[in-house]
Amino acid sequence: MNINEYKDFINNSLEKYFGERVQNSKYDKTLWKSMSYTTLLGGKRLRAIFCLETCRAICNSYKNAAACACALEMLHAQSLIHDDLPCMDNDDLRRGKPSNHKVFGEAMAVLSGDALISLGAQVIIEETPSSVEKSVILDVVNLYLKAAGAFGIVAGQCADIEAQNGKDKTDDELLKYIHSYKTAALFRCAILSGAMLAGASLDKIKLLDDFSQNFGLAFQIYDDILDVTSTTKELGKTAGKDEKENKATYVTLYGLKSAKEKFNELISDCHDILKGAEINSDVFLQILNDMRERVS
Ligand code: IPE
Ligand code: IPE
Ligand code: MG
Ligand code: MG
Ligand code: MG
Repeated sequence: MNINEYKDFINNSLEKYFGERVQNSKYDKTLWKSMSYTTLLGGKRLRAIFCLETCRAICNSYKNAAACACALEMLHAQSLIHDDLPCMDNDDLRRGKPSNHKVFGEAMAVLSGDALISLGAQVIIEETPSSVEKSVILDVVNLYLKAAGAFGIVAGQCADIEAQNGKDKTDDELLKYIHSYKTAALFRCAILSGAMLAGASLDKIKLLDDFSQNFGLAFQIYDDILDVTSTTKELGKTAGKDEKENKATYVTLYGLKSAKEKFNELISDCHDILKGAEINSDVFLQILNDMRERVS
C-alpha cells in the first residue's frame, strides 16, 4: 500500500473503536467524545504507517500489526492532548482545530489522555491476531508501555519542561535526551513492534532500532525547523511557539542553519541504515524524501 492507502486504512480502523461508544455511552459520553476528537482529527499517521510498513516489508503482510498501529495512534493522540495543556505547552490549536482542552475543558483532556494510553494497550492485547505468539504480544505491550511512560515520552516531556524553565543548562546531551525520549521513543516502539510482529530476526531488529533513534531525532528537529519556517495555517498548530515559550530545540540553541545540517546528516544516516537492514520500502523512502524536501 502507499502512504495514502495506509492512512485510509488506519483512519477506518480507528473509527471502529470510538463510533459506538460516542453514540451510546451514557455517563461517560463526554470522555469518549474527547478521546475520539483528537484521535480521529487526522494527522499524518506516521507512527501507524511505520508500524504497518515495517511488518509488511519483513513478512509481506501488515495484518499482524494492524491493532498495534491503532494503539500507537491512540498513544500519540494522548501525548498531543497533554502536550497542549496550559500547564505544558499551552497551545490552543492542534491539527487545524481547537486543542482538546479548548473544546472539552482541562479535566476532560487529562482524563481522555489517561484513557487513551490504557485503551491502546488493551487493543494490542485483545485485537492482535491469535496466530501471533503470546510472548511476542507481551513484548510488544512492554515496548508500548515503556514508550508511553517514565522510560519514554513522559521522561522526555519532563526534561523538556525543566529545560524550558531553565533548571538545567541546555547542551547537546540534554537536547538529545529530550528528543530521544519525547519523540524517538514512540517511533522506536512503532518500528520495532512492526518488526517483532513480523517475526524479524534479532539482527534486523537491532538495525531498525538504530534507524528509529536516528529518525526520531531527525523528526523532532524537523518539527522544530517547521516551527520557525512554516505558518500556523500550514502546520495546523501555532507557529513560532518554541522561541516564545523558551523551548530547548536545535533551532533555538544552534540556529536554523545548524539545525538543518544536523537534520540532513540524520536523514542520510537513516538511508544508510535502511540499506544495511535490507528493508525495501518505497514508503520509508517517500517519508524521508518528503521531509527532506520540506526542509530544504
Ligand atoms: C507532532 O507529531 C508531535 C511531535 C513529536 C513533533 P506529528 O507531526 O506526527 O503530528 P500529527 O500526528 O501529524 O498531527
Ligand atoms: C512534542 O514536541 C512531543 C510530544 C510528546 C507530543 P512538541 O511540543 O514540539 O510538539 P508540537 O510541536 O506541540 O506538536
Ligand atoms: Mg512539547
Ligand atoms: Mg507542543
Ligand atoms: Mg513542536
